[in-house]
Amino acid sequence: MAARSLSGGGSLPLLGGPHRPIAVLAAMPEELAALTPELRNPSRARVGPFEAVRGTAYGRVVLAAVSGVGKVNAAAVTQRLLAEGAGALLFTGVAGALDPELRPFDLVIADDAVQHDVDVGALGYAPGQVPGEPPAWSADPALADLAAAAAGDACDGGHALAGDGAGCAEGERRPRVVRGRIASGDRFVADPEERARIRAAFGAVCAEMEGAAAAQICARWGVPWAIVRSISDGADGDASVDFRAFTERAAGAAAQVVLGVLRRLPSEREDPGSLR
Ligand code: ADE
Repeated sequence: MAARSLSGGGSLPLLGGPHRPIAVLAAMPEELAALTPELRNPSRARVGPFEAVRGTAYGRVVLAAVSGVGKVNAAAVTQRLLAEGAGALLFTGVAGALDPELRPFDLVIADDAVQHDVDVGALGYAPGQVPGEPPAWSADPALADLAAAAAGDACDGGHALAGDGAGCAEGERRPRVVRGRIASGDRFVADPEERARIRAAFGAVCAEMEGAAAAQICARWGVPWAIVRSISDGADGDASVDFRAFTERAAGAAAQVVLGVLRRLPSEREDPGSLR
């Protein structure tokens, strides 16, 4: 297939081969900072309003892009990267803990994702359900398994705790890896009552602001997706302080897991058709 260039600033040959690239998305540049230096032969371009980097990792073509914060941004860039041929999507970044057992730098792999700020209950829909859509969007089980395995390895090797990859500091708590429901909404949750409400209504383990919107788009197009989040705060009264203090390191932890997923995917050279 001929290479195509994107409209906007630079040109980005997304479809240079017969196999589909993997989209890696994050809301903020710092959430991709640990990942993009690992891409081989990187080329930067703007995808319309979005910053993107194309490169390869472990034999797969990767399209990494920053969506901006919130569900609309996440949906917009997801739609665009799928239109450019992305065959799977990995969303990486930080989240606020809803599960009281979770601490900063713990890792959450989505089993499914909901939009906690959607309410069409007056018409009989379940909490978070968009009419015509399921009450929750399910992650691709194989991708989620790969992410859980990668998270376990990252914790064992200490990488998840250290933004610089130097390993766990002596005596530091080993991060937990949890699989469960991720709740997305256009609100930074920083209030114990709000946190408890979302936890009770949805049984979600953490809150963020993009994942379920990307999931909704992927589901409509039948594209497998996974979300990897690392805890930056407790979604409580300290959240704004903790978010600033812990985001860089937590973002690095989640990005290490995504790199582990890419490493575990069959490379195009070995098995071109196995992901889809
Ligand atoms: N991302 C990181 N922390 C968050 C929070 N408390 N609420 C929503 N999104 C977040």
